Parts: sequence; C-alpha cells; structure tokens
Amino acid sequence: MAYNTLEVTKDITKDGGVCTIKLNRPNALNALCAELTTELADALGKLEADDKIGCVILTGSDKAFAAGADITELKDGTFLGMYDHDVFGLYWEAVARFRKPIIAAVAGYALGGGCEIAMMCDFIIAADNAKFGQPEINLGVMPGAGGTQRLTKAVGKSKAMDMCLTGRMMKADEAHACGLVSRVVPLDELMETTMEAAKKIAGQSGPIAMMTKEAVNTSFETTLSQGIHFERRLFQAMFSTEDQKEGMAAFAEKRKPHFKNK
Ligand code: CAA
Repeated sequence: MAYNTLEVTKDITKDGGVCTIKLNRPNALNALCAELTTELADALGKLEADDKIGCVILTGSDKAFAAGADITELKDGTFLGMYDHDVFGLYWEAVARFRKPIIAAVAGYALGGGCEIAMMCDFIIAADNAKFGQPEINLGVMPGAGGTQRLTKAVGKSKAMDMCLTGRMMKADEAHACGLVSRVVPLDELMETTMEAAKKIAGQSGPIAMMTKEAVNTSFETTLSQGIHFERRLFQAMFSTEDQKEGMAAFAEKRKPHFKNK
C-alpha cells in the first residue's frame, strides 16, 4: 500500500499480524487534511479485509501524533460545504468504525482532531512527552469529530468542560491520572511497548477479540442491563467457536493455545 501521507508497515508472524500506520505530514505536525483522512479510511478498509492482520497501531512522529484538523483547509469553510462533504462522518469515523483492535501510540501533540482520532482508537498508550487538548475554542469553533462526547465519557464532565472551554493542553501524567490513556512510557519505549501489546492482541482469536471490543464499546451506547444482556449473549455465542475449545483445552493441557480464528 503506497500513500502520500501515511507510512504503512506490516509485521506478520505465525502468531498473528500487526500493522502500523504512521501519520506522515511532518511539515504540518500531521494536521489531518482531507488527503490524509481519505487515505487513512482506505488503509483501514483494506486492513479490515486482511485476514493476516489482527491488530493495528496508529501513530505519528515523536513531535506530533496530530495537531488537529488542517486549519488551512477549514478556514474558508461554509456550513453547506461542510455539510455536503461530511469528511468527519465519512472518513474520520472510519477509525471508530474499524472492527479489529486498534491502539493509538501517542507522542507529542494530540490536539483537536488529533486527540479525537486517538480517542476513536480502542486505547491510548502515551509517551511521556504527549500533550492532549481540544483547543478548537481558540479558533472560534468547538470540537467537531467527537471531542465533546468521547472526552466527556473518558474523563468525566468537569475535566472535559475544562479542556474544551479553556482549550488548555493536558500532559501525559494528567491524561493517565484521569483515564484518558491506559499507560505512559518513556518516549523511546513507546513503539516497543505498543508493539508488544499489539502482538499479544494479534495472537488471540481474531473473532473473540473483535467481539470483546464490540462488547466494551456497547457500554457507551446502552443501559447497564442491556449491556450485560449483550455481553452474556456474546459470551454464550463464543462457545460455538473452535477457538473457545482450543483455548480451554490448552489451559487444561498446560500448553499455549493455537487459535485458528474459527
Ligand atoms: N493545521 C494546519 N497546519 C498546522 C496545524 C493545523 N492544525 N498545526 C500545525 N500546523 C503547521 C503550522 O502552520 C506550521 O506550518 P509552517 O511551518 O508552514 O508555518 C507547522 O505545522 C509547525 O507548526 P508550529 O510552527 O505552529 O509549531 P509549534 O511547535 O510552534 O506549535 C502547536 C505547535 C502548539 C501544535 C501549534 O502548531 C498549534 O497550535 N497548532 C494548531 C492546534 C489546533 O488548534 N488544533 C485544532 C485544529 S481544529 C480541529 O481539529 C477541529 C476538529 O475538531 C476536528
């Protein structure tokens, strides 16, 4: 896969495959222009269909995961133009719609749309130099790709209001303390740590990992009793898979399971 704004690399072993997508517009701190988000949606579509890939890592550079939507593209926007070409809904949300596990490995700035894209991933591993923020208010707008919703669900009302209304940045340790990121590691360990997690996930049963992700995400969309009902039904359904038999047999036989994604 050759893209202008992304570097896509695959690491495939017999235990499972991981694909790393690196956002690559260094001169604009990976600002999310239409070309980049179109390419990203295209890459994710292809990865979803690639049976060899069990987990994806989305990352940027040491200086910036992404500094937000490309302001040069937005500045002369009109309501009808934005409405007709709903790029956030059509392309950006491809990250949230992606069905396989996807981890954001964030170093440097994750601002505006950069923070929103990171939050669309299943979890965030941050380098100790990461800075998160929703600074759109400084531009006379507000977050438009899920920031007011996903940030609030991740960190609660008070901090989400603080971030969206003041536009301030949050450092990695604060992001970790409030639950926005799952782990913080030194910058030079970011990719190794994230790859280790991704390989662990890619080595599991693919359909079981996807259903697990679906169940966790359902908790954001439904009541507790409906969510628990959905979880239980999925859990029961897993007993129709060969991978459930293999996983439990391997435990009983004190050996490593060999999942077949069946
Ligand atoms: N869009 C377009 N270009 C951007 C950009 C963005 N979001 N962020 C940075 N750049 C460009 C700069 O214009 C600059 O380009 P030139 O060298 O050609 O002038 C280059 O990237 C480097 O940036 P800086 O010189 O500003 O670097 P810095 O280290 O001094 O500052 C920064 C870094 C604090 C991140 C600063 O660049 C900044 O504030 N960027 C904008 C952040 C922002 O407001 N993001 C929200 C965008 S709106 C949005 O995302 C809406 C939504 O909800 C989807």
